[in-house]
Amino acid sequence: MRKSRVIILFLAIVVAGCKAKQSELTLLSPDSQNRVELLLSQTGELSYLVCHNDKTIIDTSSLAFELKDQKPLISGFEVVKSSHSSFSETWELPWGEQREVVNNYNEMVVELKENTTPKRRLNIYFRAYDDGVAFRYEFLAQKGVDSLIIMEENTKFQLTGDHTTWWIPGDWDSYEHLYNTTPVSGIDAMKHNNAPGLGFTNIMDNAVHTPVTMRTTEGLHISIHEAALMDYAGMTLKVDTSALKMTSRLVGSERLGYKVKRGLPFKTPWRTIQIAERAGELIESRLILNLNEPNKLGDVSWVKPMKYMGIWWEMHIDKGSWDYGMTLDEKSGKWVDTGKAHGRHAATTENAKRYIDFASKKGIKGLLIEGWNTGWERWTGFEDREGIFDFVTPYPDYDIEEVVRYAKERGVEIIMHHETSSAPRTYEKQMDTAYALMQRLGIGSVKSGYVGRIIPKGEHHHSQWMVNHYQRALEKAAEYKIAVNAHEPIKATGLRRTYPNAISREGLRGQEFNAWSPDGGNPPEHISIVAFTRMLAGPIDFTPGVFEISLPTKPNNQINTTLAHQLALYVVIYSPIQMACDLPENYENQPAFQFIQEVGVDWERTRVLEGEIGDFVVIAREERGSGNWFVGGVTDENAREINLDFDFLEEDKSYLATIYRDTPKSHFKQNPTSIDIEEREIRSNSTLNITMNEGGGFAISLKEKK
Ligand code: NOJ
Ligand code: CA
Repeated sequence: MRKSRVIILFLAIVVAGCKAKQSELTLLSPDSQNRVELLLSQTGELSYLVCHNDKTIIDTSSLAFELKDQKPLISGFEVVKSSHSSFSETWELPWGEQREVVNNYNEMVVELKENTTPKRRLNIYFRAYDDGVAFRYEFLAQKGVDSLIIMEENTKFQLTGDHTTWWIPGDWDSYEHLYNTTPVSGIDAMKHNNAPGLGFTNIMDNAVHTPVTMRTTEGLHISIHEAALMDYAGMTLKVDTSALKMTSRLVGSERLGYKVKRGLPFKTPWRTIQIAERAGELIESRLILNLNEPNKLGDVSWVKPMKYMGIWWEMHIDKGSWDYGMTLDEKSGKWVDTGKAHGRHAATTENAKRYIDFASKKGIKGLLIEGWNTGWERWTGFEDREGIFDFVTPYPDYDIEEVVRYAKERGVEIIMHHETSSAPRTYEKQMDTAYALMQRLGIGSVKSGYVGRIIPKGEHHHSQWMVNHYQRALEKAAEYKIAVNAHEPIKATGLRRTYPNAISREGLRGQEFNAWSPDGGNPPEHISIVAFTRMLAGPIDFTPGVFEISLPTKPNNQINTTLAHQLALYVVIYSPIQMACDLPENYENQPAFQFIQEVGVDWERTRVLEGEIGDFVVIAREERGSGNWFVGGVTDENAREINLDFDFLEEDKSYLATIYRDTPKSHFKQNPTSIDIEEREIRSNSTLNITMNEGGGFAISLKEKK
């Protein structure tokens, strides 16, 4: 038995391959450069193969599922029918890194059936795009079975070399790890268990999160992720460091004892493989978005891209606190003011007005206010956080009606904050009242948070149960015309196309780590990795814009970038909501703040001008409506010279460029705030030489001269 299996496998491998003749079950991208092929062994085992021209990207990789109370879906398959079709459309993003998106792909649907009882059916949808390939499974109705329990999905990705890989551990509860750069053979996720600064990690085995991005020795770039993650568990990839293979490892629930439960029929999320010759093409790729369903919310003009400030950074740098100093009365379950307020509470009416005045003066549209509601005294460190937060009751020193009124009068919008402390059932109970309050006050967006271990115990941030919670919150918010920016979220998988109120999210090590992480904060290379990994999934609420880089209240911390690098983040990082996270007093009388005032947040076009993963990246974006362009570049710990070409500008126009760049003295450690600001005229045939110093960067605004 064993012998014949080996021979059959061998046969399958020699027949397949990127140079071999294509079978009927082959699909080519519209430009014919990418190819995906389904293979069936003689015993009906399924596998697939991905090619870019004649290079093998994913070598023969098996596809299988382990199910509860059923035989695994692994062999005995035969093809019932296969069909090919093509699709092409151009659709419009209501807000985005570009307005128009071309969605052009070829599709192959393979209908399969087991040849022995119970003769289960399985369809696989393949799509080939010019920027990569994707596939998803469809489980069909089975006689006498109304739902299916998946114990594990075994989708393999057989790599073809020991690629350089940019990865974070496949933590079931957090994406807030620092990126590692190693060969596939050097991936060691377990060593990141209990990473410094991370209160809750669950790394179960040597797995990585997606998007995971790799570069082959020939310089091809590959990124594996998923699209349209709904009612399913998040996928991590278990790494076999000797066979150079990754296998899907779904996030599970110890409480429920399985990975996924679904009624039949259903489709899984897409498994995606983006392929790019130039690293920057990964950022320009819209494959993840294209694999999602069109907008289901109709008119979403109420979702407003904007810049915002916040009563926020001052808590992270220990200048103020979220909590007020109330006591939980065990009898009534209510928070009571026993006169023990410590006086450091930041979300006061008075402080809010100070921020509103500044934001209004500088034309910053939004103001986030954290720590406004009761419950912060027990938001972390307590096992029982159920019922602790209340999303409608302000602390005694915060007059929400007055703050909203004052803000409105000055053209500023308050952004609501709901820290759930990972008690989603408490949140769900209150969602309607909380969102109704927002609607009554005219507050159109909420930042939500999921700090801590999920209650109930045994659930994880990325398990199916939580995927469904995040989705419910999004859909419920949409009913009230509210946009959601979730922190400690489920990863982005392009659902913003379908639900454009998913305006941004965290899901990475953000700026906040620079304020308090015991490992000294994010290294200078952070963003030049993030741009090619996490950012491929969707918008990031990174919260850029620290001007007081030395963090005087935090003697052991400092931001590891120059000021010009902080400015560049507004262009390099894509998010329709971008924070100016520092305190008003740190922006006062700072000429560089002009860039934050001027930079766009909603784009007509995006071009990645240059970049290498982990080294540097330069991005240009054209603002919607104004025709102004903004360019941002960041480097890692190494200084670099960039020769900028402006051929993206319109030919017959002249632009006034304001250039914010490192000075010869700038250095992320020794001299982070040294910056040069210079104006000059730029045309499409202009060139500009820019040096980014260690940990540095640059930002340019280009306004058409009329
Ligand atoms: C973690 C979030 O990332 C941060 O932005 C927020 O201030 C805290 N949670 C409190 O909710
Ligand atoms: Ca966070």
